[in-house]
Amino acid sequence: MAARRITIFDTTLRDGEQSPGIALQPHEKAEIATQLERLGVDVVEAGFAVSSPGDFEGVRAVAAAVDRPAVASLARTRKEDIDASAEALADAQRSRIHVFIATSPIHMEKKLRLEPAEVVEQARWAVGYANAKADEVEFSCEDATRSDPRFVAKVCREAIEAGATTINLPDTVGYCLPEEYASFLLEVQHLCPELEEVSLSVHCHNDLGLAVANSLAAVRAGATQIEATINGLGERAGNAALEEIVMALRVRRDSFETETGIVVGEIGKTSHLVERLTGYSVQRCKAIVGANAFAHEAGIHQDGMLKDAQTYQIMDPTELGLVMTLPLGKHSGRHAFALACAEAGIQIEGDELNEAFKRFKQLADQRKQVTLYDVFEREAAVP
Ligand code: KIV
Ligand code: ZN
Repeated sequence: MAARRITIFDTTLRDGEQSPGIALQPHEKAEIATQLERLGVDVVEAGFAVSSPGDFEGVRAVAAAVDRPAVASLARTRKEDIDASAEALADAQRSRIHVFIATSPIHMEKKLRLEPAEVVEQARWAVGYANAKADEVEFSCEDATRSDPRFVAKVCREAIEAGATTINLPDTVGYCLPEEYASFLLEVQHLCPELEEVSLSVHCHNDLGLAVANSLAAVRAGATQIEATINGLGERAGNAALEEIVMALRVRRDSFETETGIVVGEIGKTSHLVERLTGYSVQRCKAIVGANAFAHEAGIHQDGMLKDAQTYQIMDPTELGLVMTLPLGKHSGRHAFALACAEAGIQIEGDELNEAFKRFKQLADQRKQVTLYDVFEREAAVP
């Protein structure tokens, strides 16, 4: 069976930038967007044009910088938001206005102070208005997963009739469990069969650490677009990490039977660029792009890795533009130690190697980090 193509919508420059303390300059957004294009994402959400003059310029810079991906700007259901988005996207090869309004009772009552009928009306009007101003319109029901599926289905139907070509049903507050999200999506698709004619998108937040699991459950329930960010940046606990989703779909293609347009060899470079320009460092033990993701310290693991990398690795880091390391620490084995010596040009074997390994273990028990320089008492010419 042919693999189902999943659209990858990157929102690093919009939801990712909503992480406290990140403020990307327009030229930095353009640099990241250019790298996202190399990475092969299908849509780059560049910002929220109306939110500030800087963000307007950021969206403009991204629109001018990339050719292949669609460029999106977020907009509330307000004329000024849609006008600002359209203007900022004027140079885009393919422009997308991403209109959203909340559909959950708490957001409608407490935040918007609107009746459900008014929300439906605003959604319909805004999608229709945006449709005349961009190549594509995406519509999101904010807080969809805490909304009544019947109401969500009604709003989706209206948005599709008004011209939306992508409908996004976000787990805005990261509340859903994977099986609940899947049932919710199946129910809405059942209640709104018109969704078959558009792209069904998901957007998950990581408040319970479930953003990636929820996005993957959504793929099984028929989602055709996933929204995600590089390094999992985003509001509060972040968004679903793009690199984790893509690699899960790829490594477990046997289970998902899907494909994406992502060039996995660009993952490492993209992650490093986003880390550098946002100033948000990646947690060491984060999947795929964390410094420890392909580091093996324990002796048994190092021995296995030296015999066959597949003993402890399900992905080849070099294919992702990343590297495998065998750091030396208190758990390391003789085999990896000998290799490190040989790689550093220290030619020792037999008793000499045994002695050096003993010294290394003694030091490793006392310190967090031991280098060969320490083991050879700073006499050897270790680079
Ligand atoms: O989390 C969310 O609901 C959003 C929407 C604006 C798509 O970011
Ligand atoms: Zn979000």
